This record gives sequence, structure tokens and C-alpha cells, in this order.
Amino acid sequence: MYALSRFWQSTIGKKIVMAVTGIVGILFVLGHMSGNFLMFKGQGAMHDYAQLLRTSMPLLWAVRAGLIVAVVLHAVAAYQLTMRSRAARPQDYAVKNPQVTTLAAKTIRWGGVLLLVFIVYHILHMTVGTVHPQFTHLDPYNNLSIGLRNPLVAGFYVLAMAALGLHLYHGGWAVMRTLGVARPSASPLKRRVALLLAIVVAAGFAAIPIATLAGMFPEAPALQVETH
Ligand code: HEM
Repeated sequence: MYALSRFWQSTIGKKIVMAVTGIVGILFVLGHMSGNFLMFKGQGAMHDYAQLLRTSMPLLWAVRAGLIVAVVLHAVAAYQLTMRSRAARPQDYAVKNPQVTTLAAKTIRWGGVLLLVFIVYHILHMTVGTVHPQFTHLDPYNNLSIGLRNPLVAGFYVLAMAALGLHLYHGGWAVMRTLGVARPSASPLKRRVALLLAIVVAAGFAAIPIATLAGMFPEAPALQVETH
């Protein structure tokens, strides 16, 4: 217990926690994005998928709990590391001339906050249904078709996916550095893996609200679902 607490207190400990929970997040978004592509197969495929996820409710709740713990640890470690780095340099540099910086690095913190807001809204929208105009349990095809045909809502989804892409670009690179997979290099802009991940995930997710707005997922007749 003492060793665990010392690990968490240390700056490198928090960075490792961020890296490991970040990897959990990356695996989750890759799985979730692949599942979303079933929209192109239609209402039946999405319904079967939603049911498959609910095969074992205890397992689903265990996964949900693991994801919540990962997100909370990631955000708390990020906040504490930000406070530490501010305390270490209470006054900003008079002249800031970083050797390498990217839009992704500059937006990582606010982008992270936007993603947290998105996740809360998204769960209320697509899982709980409280902020959805016409939510039907176990009919994710129509929930997306109806929920994303409002351009403001679809626009917010696309904006959040742009933030997710930037977050993964910077975070994907940071995780490799923290865990020592990528060594400091003379050409730090060689971040192809992180870049590829960011583009695939942002474009793959954004395809759904964009295709909905383009009319590719017209509302289907209501499913006759048995609720249990
Ligand atoms: C355009 C992008 C996205 C679309 C179209 C989408 C679609 C959906 C749908 C339809 C559900 C409900 C599934 C069901 O109840 O069977 C869902 C649930 C969820 N989504 Fe997304 N999603 C998107 C992006 C994201 C992102 C970026 C994250 C996280 C970083 C995320 C996290 C979640 C979570 C945590 C759930 C709840 C799962 C549960 O029931 O426990 N989603 N999403």
C-alpha cells in the first residue's frame, strides 16, 4: 500500500498511470469505432450488436466500472501534473521559443476537458436517452439516425472527434515516450504511428454524424424489441 502511494505521489508514477489508462482509452475507442461501422450494415446489425454487448450484464458493468476508473485516474493525474508544472514555474517564460510544439500539444488540456464534456453528454444522449428527442432502448440505429440529424448536435460530435484526433496525436506520442517505446530523437516530428492513429480514429468516428447528415441512415420503422 505504501509503495503504491509513493508511486502515485511521484511525477513519473502519475505519468505511467496516464500512459496505461490512455492505452485503455485507445483500445476502447478502436473497438467502439469498429462497432459503429455496423451502421452501414443497417438497423438489424446495430440491434444485434447492442444485444451482444448486453449478453452478460455483470460483465458489462465490470467493463463500465473499469472504464470509469481509467477516465477518472487519467483526468486526476493530468490535473495534478498540470498543477505541479505550474508550481514549478509560477511565472511564465519571458520569451517562449519551444523547439517543437504542435497544435495537438497546445490543445491537449482544453481538448481533454472538451472530451470529458462530450462523454457525459454522449452517454446521456445514446445510452441513457435523457437528452435524446426520441430514444428507444436497444435501437441504436434509429437513436443515431434521429439523434444526429440535428446539424448542431452532429456538428458537436464532429468537433469532439476533431478534439479526440488532436488528443490522440499528442497523447499517442506521449505514451510511447513515457513507456520508453520511442526514444528522444533528433527529428521529433516523426510521429507517424500517433498521426495514423489520430486520423483513423477521428475520421472513422466522424463518418457517422457526417453520413447521417448526408441522409445515408434514414429513420427505419420502430423495432419490436422485448425489454427485460
Ligand atoms: C461519432 C462518434 C460516436 C458515435 C456515433 C457513437 C455511438 C454510440 C452509441 C450508438 C452508443 C450506444 C450503444 C448501445 O447502447 O448499445 C454509444 C455508447 C457509448 N459511447 Fe459512443 N459513439 C461515438 C463516440 C464516442 C467516443 C469518442 C467515446 C469515448 C471517448 C464514446 C464513448 C461511449 C461510451 C462510454 C458509451 C456507453 C457504453 C455503455 O453503455 O456502457 N463514444 N456510443
